Amino acid sequence: MKNFSIKDIYSNKVKINEKIKVYGWVRSKRDSKKGISFIDIFDGTCLLTLQAVAKSNLENYEKEIIKLTSGCSLVVTGNIIFSRRQEQKYELLIIKLKVLGLINNPDKYPISLKKHTFEYLRKFAHLRVRTKFFCAISKIRNVLFSTINNFLYKKNFTWVPTPIITGLNTEGSGAMFSVFSSNNDKAKKLSNFKNIFKNKNFLTVSGQLTLESYALALSKVYNFGPTFRSEDSNTKRHLSEFWMLEVEVAFFNLKKIVHLSKIFLKYITEHTLEKCIFEIEFLEKYFSKNIIKNLKNLINLDYVEIEYKDLIKLLNVLGKSISFGEDISLEQEKYVVNKHFCKPLIVKNFPKNLKAFYMRDNPDNVTVASMDIFLPNIGEVLGGSQREERLKILDNKLKKFNLGKDKYWWYRDLRKYGTVIHSGFGIGFERLLCYFTGIDNIRDASPFPKTLRKFYY
Ligand code: 4AD
Ligand code: MG
Repeated sequence: MKNFSIKDIYSNKVKINEKIKVYGWVRSKRDSKKGISFIDIFDGTCLLTLQAVAKSNLENYEKEIIKLTSGCSLVVTGNIIFSRRQEQKYELLIIKLKVLGLINNPDKYPISLKKHTFEYLRKFAHLRVRTKFFCAISKIRNVLFSTINNFLYKKNFTWVPTPIITGLNTEGSGAMFSVFSSNNDKAKKLSNFKNIFKNKNFLTVSGQLTLESYALALSKVYNFGPTFRSEDSNTKRHLSEFWMLEVEVAFFNLKKIVHLSKIFLKYITEHTLEKCIFEIEFLEKYFSKNIIKNLKNLINLDYVEIEYKDLIKLLNVLGKSISFGEDISLEQEKYVVNKHFCKPLIVKNFPKNLKAFYMRDNPDNVTVASMDIFLPNIGEVLGGSQREERLKILDNKLKKFNLGKDKYWWYRDLRKYGTVIHSGFGIGFERLLCYFTGIDNIRDASPFPKTLRKFYY
């Protein structure tokens, strides 16, 4: 007798009347007056549950089966039959049910079947994944991750795992987490952990600079991994630990990297929507409106493209007072993206005072060759630029940004030895996932969300 997952069953891999074994957990149980229990089982291999029917003549019916509650684990043996229920194709007639883990005090089970708020569930990140909602999110995250890798592989990009512990602050500003060694008794005694390295080290805010060195040898590269920012932004869009995809291409100018980011977004959206339509429709039905419509805007390349200077003019026309050189406030951004355009928005050529040191100066000497992509209800999902490849100008910028030339010696080498124009972008993976799932708060897009004040795990 073979084991089958619930996904196998709904993928028609089991013959009718075949005797099989299924492992899983109880989602819910209903007992009829006639002494039959209908147990909905999930195993997380798909969103669907399997209804298993237990009759009272089973030897452990009174002792165990009747006591099953949401969350108990079990293994059932039985025959697959066609279900009479409309919402599911198959059900299982139980021959044997073995309880693996009972819940002694079901009233204390933190995620009992009643409705819970997302905020409440965040305290139980280790259990919330048992809900249908977080199962759907996990499935979409997984497909999105592999689709991103597929696109880049097909386009002949080489993946590079850039350092997580680093001495450099790529973005040149913003707070970083320091890295210390606790593996030192003396240091522990002094309650002043000794630094494991000679210089100060941090958790990376972006792998871009080291990625650039690989782009200047392999032409098309990317990294995809955890990134850390310790700024105290207690918002629905910021995490202290998030995943970022960074893409870097040699011989590409800003125009080409904007084009690449658009066909990238189109591809990953088309493929993820197709593969996750069941999960996305479930989320749209029960949790959030317009997910599919918003995704279709990415597929149809329904973007607005605007220069920063024109966006400033537009904001003023719309009655939002802002001058050239100022950062667009959250309120202004929300207004223009969510209410005015209601579509993805690409903003290009920001003033250099607003952007990082590595962005290439435009001939106007005021702006840099930069781009940000904003999505409705998510805000900035992607940031990119053409990089400053001219040593002299880079040196001036390092000086202006108060960044020691010596520390960036190897980065400067890249401008000394066969420099070429090159460009890249970074995407916040959890923000992207919010757009694919309709999640309102980024803390529900990360399996174990970390924000400065809330480190449960
Ligand atoms: O705009 P950022 O800071 O750009 C960079 O780090 C560049 N080095 C990328 C590159 O060109 N290679 O960050 C990139 C993206 C943002 O657009 C945003 O989506 C996401 O990372 N992001 C965050 N996501 C969650 N929480 C935070 N605290 C984030 N900060 C940035
Ligand atoms: Mg940015």
